[in-house]
Amino acid sequence: MASLLPSSTRVIPDIASVPRHIAVIMDGNGRWAKQRFMPRVMGHQRGVEALRETVKACRDLGVEYLTVFAFSSENWRRPTDEVSFLMSLFLKMLEREVAKLHKNNIRLKIIGDRSRFDAKLNQAMHKAEHLTAGNTGLTLTIAANYGGRWDVMHAVQAMLGERPQLAQGFAEEDLSPYLSMSDAPEPDLFIRTGGEQRISNFMLWQLAYTELYFTDTLWPAFGRKELETAIASYQKRERRFGRTSEQLQGKQGA
Ligand code: IPE
Ligand code: IPE
Ligand code: MG
Repeated sequence: MASLLPSSTRVIPDIASVPRHIAVIMDGNGRWAKQRFMPRVMGHQRGVEALRETVKACRDLGVEYLTVFAFSSENWRRPTDEVSFLMSLFLKMLEREVAKLHKNNIRLKIIGDRSRFDAKLNQAMHKAEHLTAGNTGLTLTIAANYGGRWDVMHAVQAMLGERPQLAQGFAEEDLSPYLSMSDAPEPDLFIRTGGEQRISNFMLWQLAYTELYFTDTLWPAFGRKELETAIASYQKRERRFGRTSEQLQGKQGA
């Protein structure tokens, strides 16, 4: 079982000027394509390039964890053609990019319910994770068929399966190790591109104290410069975790 890092809302994490963990909702692919009179799926294709650039920028800046929302548990509601395009894009990406990620010492992880993916995709996911498991650079986590509610429900079920006595009552610390991102600190910075200001069932538990940043830039147009702007905004925030501003400045009596 992974150890619990000091990242629960009960424990105030150390704050670094560069976020240790950035979580991103990569939104706006369809609109990016539509603006250019292209089919929506072209936007997804260009989205992969934006991800590549973001990964590189995170690595250069010293971000330790980058977690991206690639496909939500609600995205199955999209037209069949778009869903199958996204599945084959995911497979292609795993097959083509993993060697490069590995060469760059990047550890790839995938979170979400895999039971709905076909055998070939499952195999590619497993292979990619296995190959890069020992890497010590950036950890890139892809959320696929992921939902924040699924994550919590799944964790409760897994916990009670292993420790049925906890049905009588349990603490945050009992549940945390069973959540998808238990081996990472909670996100410091959340970025959503594409102009919508909502969480869309992303990491509901883990985002409890994350700084939120929304930009109108559509995901395929996102890159190093936009990432730096988001981090600059983060650096101006005062993360209080329930305390007062005076306490943070060491003036408890003020
Ligand atoms: C995000 O872009 C990618 C996925 C959800 C897979 P969208 O496809 O949601 O793009 P918009 O929001 O329609 O522009
Ligand atoms: C959220 O984007 C999921 C991903 C980016 C994978 P959506 O575009 O599906 O979100 P909603 O449904 O508009 O909130
Ligand atoms: Mg969208």
